[in-house]
Amino acid sequence: MKVTDTADLWWKTAVVYCLDVETYLDSDGDGTGDLQGLAQRLDHLAALGVTCLWLMPVYPTPDRDDGYDIVDFYGVDSRLGSLGDFVEVVRTAKDRGMRVIADLVVNHTSDQHPWFQSARSSRDSPFRDFYVWRDEPPDEQAEVVFPDQEDSVWEHDESAGQYYLHQFYKHQPDLNITNPRVRDEIAKIMGFWLQLGLSGFRVDAVPFFLATNGVDDADEAFAHPHDYLRDLRAFLGRRSGDGILLGEVNLPHEDQATFFGGTDGDELTMQFDFIAMQRLYLSLARQDAGPVAEALTSRPAIAHDSQWATFVRNHDELTLDKLTDDERQEVFAAFGPDEAMQVFGRGLRRRLPPMLGGDPRRVRMVYSLLFSLPGTPVLFYGEEIGMGENLDVPGRMAVRTPMQWSAGVNGGFSTAPADALPAPVVEGGYGPEFVNVEAQRRDPDSLLSFVSLLVRRYRECPELGWGEFAVLEQPHAQVLAHSVTWEDACLVALHNLADTAVTVPLVLPDVRAGTRLSDLLVDGSHEVREDGSVDVPLEAYGFRWLRVVHPGDRRLV
Ligand code: GLC
Repeated sequence: MKVTDTADLWWKTAVVYCLDVETYLDSDGDGTGDLQGLAQRLDHLAALGVTCLWLMPVYPTPDRDDGYDIVDFYGVDSRLGSLGDFVEVVRTAKDRGMRVIADLVVNHTSDQHPWFQSARSSRDSPFRDFYVWRDEPPDEQAEVVFPDQEDSVWEHDESAGQYYLHQFYKHQPDLNITNPRVRDEIAKIMGFWLQLGLSGFRVDAVPFFLATNGVDDADEAFAHPHDYLRDLRAFLGRRSGDGILLGEVNLPHEDQATFFGGTDGDELTMQFDFIAMQRLYLSLARQDAGPVAEALTSRPAIAHDSQWATFVRNHDELTLDKLTDDERQEVFAAFGPDEAMQVFGRGLRRRLPPMLGGDPRRVRMVYSLLFSLPGTPVLFYGEEIGMGENLDVPGRMAVRTPMQWSAGVNGGFSTAPADALPAPVVEGGYGPEFVNVEAQRRDPDSLLSFVSLLVRRYRECPELGWGEFAVLEQPHAQVLAHSVTWEDACLVALHNLADTAVTVPLVLPDVRAGTRLSDLLVDGSHEVREDGSVDVPLEAYGFRWLRVVHPGDRRLV
């Protein structure tokens, strides 16, 4: 390994943790989580081994889409704290070895944003062209993103006397990025937050943001939206050197390749692998590794500096939109059979442990798989302790309930009366009484201890971020056997997706006399025969991380 090849590419081997300040820790007892509360819990995140925090929107907002509806891109909502508190969080995180990125939501603003208020007031407003207007909606319309709430992406505005484009909720008018003044403003927003210490952005809704739907006269400069994404990446590079753009692009893999800038890698630095995530759930439902293996092997080639972000849950609906209707029904039947567990006809509003019937073996197997896949893992707050959802909370908010710190009042999240919280805490078997950080910190057998171990091992195995992925041949459909190889390091991972024990016969390449597989999670090792064959037993929902150790290797195992 040459230092110049890998140094500074921190995102290739990062552990990302997404949280909403509003639901993390309320430090002043007003019911809302805040930046000072987060600052107090950075040690929890550092101890877990997180290296990059992703903050969901903290900007001033009327809060009709949990902060994704912004009225001021240059501020912090007063419920959460101040810009000063923000800088304290970034600085303290840095002190603990963690970088911070934040949501960059520039596909749209809130309809309360002063730009929109001005734009709608008059055709002569200097902000009129910040948005996309039409006298009549076009015959051909894009599909709405939230079909339970909206039936068109065009909304008539009385005072404007025209229709405006909104690909999301009607209270989120789309910005017109064909307007160079809008593009300047976006660069300024990025520059502002980078100056305050951010290491980049999770870029919201990228394909929507780049689409020029409805703009007939997209100017010359905007004829090629991907040139613009390239410009943004270059701007980020100039301002911050090693900042990243982690893009939300839920598209087929071949389209994602374009958003990376192909093998030039000069557009988004990272993208979530929505395809592998969805195929993983199909695999879990079928107890058949085929779908997820196929998704991983069909990832397009990406540049040396680009990276996939892997995840099993995020803050939105667990979308299954890229499965066929039949496949989606299989996953619904397995993990969310009641209509109340589903949303938008395409996703689930549950967290992983309840979907898996609370079976700790199966939950651990899935997290083991997440951390052993090639890419950079992203956790959503509460996953480290196995939080569940609250289906009484409407829509996607069911999984955005307060973080469960202790068995105390409001799960230790806030001392305010329960009705002052942003969402009710989870009740029942996944409530704070049974699932909380405080109890799990003291328990070496807890999920928190287990996830911390996975994070530690992931960080010790740079091949997981850098390496070549291969599916290893073996006879059991219920098992995913894969290897990740980088330079002279090779990790073999086995995951049994089914509830029956199996023995997995493997044949490993490049074996020398005395090569063995050393288990990185539990005590033990397996001798590999001279022909490269080895049999590894797996319990029901069992898993192994096995380091290939050749005689004379000095790697720590
Ligand atoms: C993204 C966010 C989602 C939000 C939407 C509109 O999809 O993940 O939470 O509602 O954009 O900003």
